[in-house]
Amino acid sequence: MTKRKKLIAANWKMYPAPVALGAPVQGKPSMEALKAYRGTPEVDAIVFPTFLDIPKVLKAGLIVGAQYGHPEESGAHTGDVSMKMVKDAGCTHVLCGHSERRKDHGETNTFVAAQVLSALKNDLHPILCIGETWEEKKAGHSKKVVQEQLDIVLRALPSHDSPLTIAYEPVWAISGGDATKPAASAAEAEEMHAFIRELLKASRHAEPFDKLRTGFVEARILYGGSMKPENAEELLRQPNIDGGLVGGASLDPVKFQKIVETAAKHS
Ligand code: PGA
Repeated sequence: MTKRKKLIAANWKMYPAPVALGAPVQGKPSMEALKAYRGTPEVDAIVFPTFLDIPKVLKAGLIVGAQYGHPEESGAHTGDVSMKMVKDAGCTHVLCGHSERRKDHGETNTFVAAQVLSALKNDLHPILCIGETWEEKKAGHSKKVVQEQLDIVLRALPSHDSPLTIAYEPVWAISGGDATKPAASAAEAEEMHAFIRELLKASRHAEPFDKLRTGFVEARILYGGSMKPENAEELLRQPNIDGGLVGGASLDPVKFQKIVETAAKHS
């Protein structure tokens, strides 16, 4: 198995940049706090701020992604921002299909697949978010839901060498700002990550002429949903958990840095 470098991504959602890029954070000057988001030789770090904060976070020298991009280049879509615009603004990555967008903005699997294709066309690295709701889990449909969300994207990809990162985010484990909410257990998360890895492999086998390429079979699979310093260790030591998409805890540079340091131990 190829050793995949760990990736810890900060999803700042609709919160102001925690490092006010000027104001002190927990007594530390912000420039020092900013280091938390820079990653290390062993761990990649990416920050997903609001659209309005993208320029200042870029200016701070961080790797920046957008939380969303519309698949069309431009058009009559009030309030939207296209993948092309995101790219032109200096982003290198983009989240596609975060569960909060699926819920709040009615993003369907088909729309999310179009986003991923548009991201690739605009030379952005898509991070595809997938995961089941509590109701779907209770009904025993977790794997079916995740497979449907993934398959439609894999089938649409132009090549098995398309850059892709997956974020498995069980919707029921996302903190929603509640720092006390438990994450999925490491065993539960690992089982789903291993399943996703199998789906990636199976999808490659469907295209025999591409045998020599590993492509997205080796895509990183991040876990998201209440990851914090207290549970990062047990999650990040799992063989198929290649990092985290961190919401709540990423708003605190000290907590984020602790997660990055934990990831470094397992890189
Ligand atoms: P959380 O959010 O870490 O606050 O659960 C993760 C996410 O929604 O990406």
